[in-house]
Amino acid sequence: MIKKIPLALFFLFTTLNAQPALAEEPRYTGDGQLVRPDNYREWIFLSSGLGMTYSSVEAIANTVSTPRFDNVFVTPEAYRAFLKTGAWPEKTMFALEVRSSVSKGSINKGGRYQEEVVALEIEVKDQSRFPNKWAYFDFPASARSAKPLPATASCHACHSSNGAVDNTFVQFYPTLLPVAKAKGTFKASSN
Ligand code: HEC
Repeated sequence: MIKKIPLALFFLFTTLNAQPALAEEPRYTGDGQLVRPDNYREWIFLSSGLGMTYSSVEAIANTVSTPRFDNVFVTPEAYRAFLKTGAWPEKTMFALEVRSSVSKGSINKGGRYQEEVVALEIEVKDQSRFPNKWAYFDFPASARSAKPLPATASCHACHSSNGAVDNTFVQFYPTLLPVAKAKGTFKASSN
């Protein structure tokens, strides 16, 4: 009899483990703010940009000595859907985590590595909620939730006119770029 208990427990745990993981979807507060997705580092990592600047020569000159890394993550279900279709499904969420960089530390003799988080920006595709289909959020360090940035925010204009697939910068994500090209969803103008 005693021997049967561990066996029963074994089957119970196996069944529990077989349950599919809950989908990562945007969650909102009662007043329409996006709840901070604390576990974004468990999403799929797409790429890191180092010291990327999109505007003037001065901006490049100012940042070149202390370039920042930006790490891009996307929700796992959206990533798997993209591999099949080359397009982002409803409820896709992206995180852009910006980190400072340093070169001096431990055994490092050259190159740069990442340090503190200096910004966290989130992008959500949710047509049922946002007239522009995509919404943008900026999370200051301690913020538990954030309001969608207005349609006039620079995020919308730059992403919708320069993103290679829908509003997103797939041209900079090396594992997704060939998928979008093969599926015919890549905007040729963004090359
Ligand atoms: C001048 C153009 C520009 C503006 C303005 C801009 N972005 Fe981006 N954004 C980019 C580029 C380029 C990337 C790709 C970064 C990389 O490859 O590391 C990106 C990537 C992102 C990503 C990762 C998913 C994606 O779309 O590829 C998020 C999230 C994001 N930006 C949020 C924001 C938010 C929020 C704002 C407004 C506060 C904003 N961005 C404003 C150019 C812009």
